[in-house]
Amino acid sequence: MTFSIPKDFLWGGAVAAHQLEGAWQAGGKGVSLADVMTAGANGIPRQITAEVEPDKFYPNHEAIDFYHHYKADLKLFAEMGFKCFRTSIAWTRIFPLGDEQEPNEAGLRFYDDLFAECHKYGIEPVITLSHFEIPNHLIRKYGGWRDRRLIDFFVHFATVVFKRYRKQVKYWMTFNEINNQTNYKEQFLLATDSGLVLDADDPQSEALMYQAAHYELVASALAVKVGRQINPDFKLGCMLNVSPLYPATCKPADAFQALKAMQRRYWFADVQTLGKYPRHMEAFFKANGLRADITLEDRIVLEEGTVDYLGFSYYNSLTVAAQSDNPEYHFVGPEAAVANSYLATSDWGWPIDPLGLRYSLNWLADHYHKPLMIVENGLGARDEIAADGQIHDDYRIAYLRAHIQAMKTAIEKDGVEVIGYTPWGCIDLVSAGTGQMSKRYGFIYVDRDDQGNGSLARMKKDSFYWYQKVIKSNGQDL
Ligand code: BG6
Repeated sequence: MTFSIPKDFLWGGAVAAHQLEGAWQAGGKGVSLADVMTAGANGIPRQITAEVEPDKFYPNHEAIDFYHHYKADLKLFAEMGFKCFRTSIAWTRIFPLGDEQEPNEAGLRFYDDLFAECHKYGIEPVITLSHFEIPNHLIRKYGGWRDRRLIDFFVHFATVVFKRYRKQVKYWMTFNEINNQTNYKEQFLLATDSGLVLDADDPQSEALMYQAAHYELVASALAVKVGRQINPDFKLGCMLNVSPLYPATCKPADAFQALKAMQRRYWFADVQTLGKYPRHMEAFFKANGLRADITLEDRIVLEEGTVDYLGFSYYNSLTVAAQSDNPEYHFVGPEAAVANSYLATSDWGWPIDPLGLRYSLNWLADHYHKPLMIVENGLGARDEIAADGQIHDDYRIAYLRAHIQAMKTAIEKDGVEVIGYTPWGCIDLVSAGTGQMSKRYGFIYVDRDDQGNGSLARMKKDSFYWYQKVIKSNGQDL
């Protein structure tokens, strides 16, 4: 056993197809959810329109046009020393509507070329099958994941890409941040996870979310089973958003509220790694009459389709306090969280807490006993081009340095098994939550603004050279 960053550690960067590819209609691509999301801003939600409306601005349509720039961008990733590159396959490039039998060859060819380009540099692709980009047709015709038929459509999509890329891709994840939807009062989270487009106060949203989540979990387990048959060397993972929940005080009720909040947000990992719903969720469903449609066959599939590793995003922790009008300690989402006076926040109000990453790694290792991969972490910030023409993003370096240090300590001192680290938005891209370009995460700056103006020229930030050094030293030179 070694308690240091392994030699074959997967250092890299992470993106998602819809946030950078652009070319939303190229090669026969269909309309995805991301294509009908307008631009929002800090505190202003993105609108989801039924179809593309000609007079509205949809920032993902062009994004940073990675579709036509991927060769030059991968060259830059290779220059930083990336060992892996996490992206997603846009479902609508392969199945423009989502319910077809025959895949779209032009879409498949794009990813042939992209993965070949990765391998040219010895970069291992790490692929998410569904990252907030469900075909819009599946939303409009079937109501998204509330319909059991989506399981077959998804598994068909997964089977086609597993077969096509069985030699080019080894690391897969099924659904990005599948647990975001536990906050079913946020329209964006329900839509991006499950294609449920509902009003914020729709009384059915809780029940629909648990049903949709169940179908996704079955689809994920079936995909894992199929993937294993297609290539037994595949590493098939799940992907959760992890923000540990701290009690606001040492008052027992606050501590218990934090525990219940952890249970309510992370049970998806129980299903995906341990193969069954935890008893606290079964009790909750029973008491509340939720998740009506679950079969014995579903339960068998869940047991058989557990994942090889647990991928997760970590940006921040959250803090919760018990409420006197909530005797059962229910927890829906961060809107019930309280400010943590010990932590500074980003310009978008996200608490900055590197120790929270070490906490998360320990907690996940204790509960799930699977190798862990940190597949997103980063600081969304505004970057300015300085008088010398450079971007001195020391704030981003400080954030990443502290988080990598926390990961290292978890590996070295706590014995946690971590197989990779891919900071989010390694090249500037469209923010998922706000649709902004000005919320930048990248090591590489892209000249494009929130209204879609700019030359799309790429430029290395100070953090580019810093991360290059981190990778070269295998995390020793921070
Ligand atoms: C994660 C998503 O929730 O956070 C990404 O997987 C997203 O798609 C990232 O971009 C950062 O969030 P945001 O809203 O700042 O883009």
